Amino acid sequence: MTTFVESANSGDGRRVILEAVIGALPMPVIMLASDNRILFANSAAEGFFQAGASLLCKGTLEQFVPFASPLLSLVETVRSHGASVNEYSIDIGTPRSGGPQQVDVHVAALSEREGCVLVTVQPRAMAQKIDRQLTHRGAARSVSGMAAMLAHEIKNPLSGIRGAAQLLETGASEDDRQLTQLICDESDRICGLVDQMEVFSDDRPIAPEPVNIHAVLDRVKNIAANGFASNTRIAVEYDPSLPDVPGNRDLLIQVFLNLIKNAAEAVADLGAAGEILLTTAFRPGIKLTVPGVDERVALPLECCIHDNGSGIPEDMRQHLFDPFVSTKATGKGLGLALVAKVVRDHGGIIECDSDDHRTTFRLLLPMYQAKPMSAGAQAAE
Ligand SMILES: Nc1ncnc2c1ncn2[C@@H]1O[C@H](COP(=O)(O)OP(=O)(O)O)[C@@H](O)[C@H]1O
Ligand SMILES: [Mg+2]
Repeated sequence: MTTFVESANSGDGRRVILEAVIGALPMPVIMLASDNRILFANSAAEGFFQAGASLLCKGTLEQFVPFASPLLSLVETVRSHGASVNEYSIDIGTPRSGGPQQVDVHVAALSEREGCVLVTVQPRAMAQKIDRQLTHRGAARSVSGMAAMLAHEIKNPLSGIRGAAQLLETGASEDDRQLTQLICDESDRICGLVDQMEVFSDDRPIAPEPVNIHAVLDRVKNIAANGFASNTRIAVEYDPSLPDVPGNRDLLIQVFLNLIKNAAEAVADLGAAGEILLTTAFRPGIKLTVPGVDERVALPLECCIHDNGSGIPEDMRQHLFDPFVSTKATGKGLGLALVAKVVRDHGGIIECDSDDHRTTFRLLLPMYQAKPMSAGAQAAE
């Protein structure tokens, strides 16, 4: 019997292996003859063009990409110059493939066969997703580094400045006292901002306690109704069967405060027509892939904050949870960045859905499960 390695060295064996390798590639690959007939398509290409290899190989490239597609001129350029070309972010979608599809393509001339070219397609959504994850990670790192730096380098001298201003205040005239007061107030404000930033550099895992989300929401609703949202109607629709979540109560209060504050600011212009709705639901079937965990985890607790404000501008949605992103004149753009961090630390997920007359922030969280008691602890009872 010939071994795998021996058969790989025979002509036919190599062919079988090459076909298997190209067939298994995750990105669509097609080979074109000099008249653009499709000679070969791998299985990713079948999925991408929504057609079987046998159908693809009966047609030409023109039948599977839009009329005047930049891919056609790209293939021609490669044929005439004999060199490979990369083109980024072009649209090669067709009605058959479900409308526009942004892709990066690589077109290479096959030197062994006159006029033949190989087209490799990298779907844009995949590239952008990877991009986005990397940027997020970078942003999170730079914010936590900066927060740690701010805490050390600013807070100490600041308390010195404040102390000095207080000393001056004792012998100062009435006019000068206003200035020393200003120094103290502004120092306090900077200190508050640094404290807010410091939360980002705190990488300690939370010590999860069972937290009743309804108690958290009621607390936040109370703070809102007596403060920043005193003129806004806040309705609730709770699912009474909701179990506890494993978490830190104070941090979860902070999360909902930030979300409800944003909602209140979004409906502020609507006056009496503005409304915020808090809903909860228990959805035991929901299992998701979350970063850092291999298995799909159950996140059955759903809490939503709905508002009927004018929504989040389309171009903002992608960067919503990044720090320093704000459309408000005095906004710091740290609210949602903090929400994202705390939700992630709780093993949950947050997503946003918005159009021009409503916005929903949806939080999915795990359920608290009491640790089974050890045999020793049971015996001691
Ligand atoms: N419920 C909402 N409705 C409309 N826009 C929102 C809502 N929540 C957040 N946003 C948008 O997201 C931006 C970032 O929010 P956030 O991180 O809390 O920072 P800030 O409130 O300081 O601007 C806001 O400036 C706003 O443009
Ligand atoms: Mg905010």
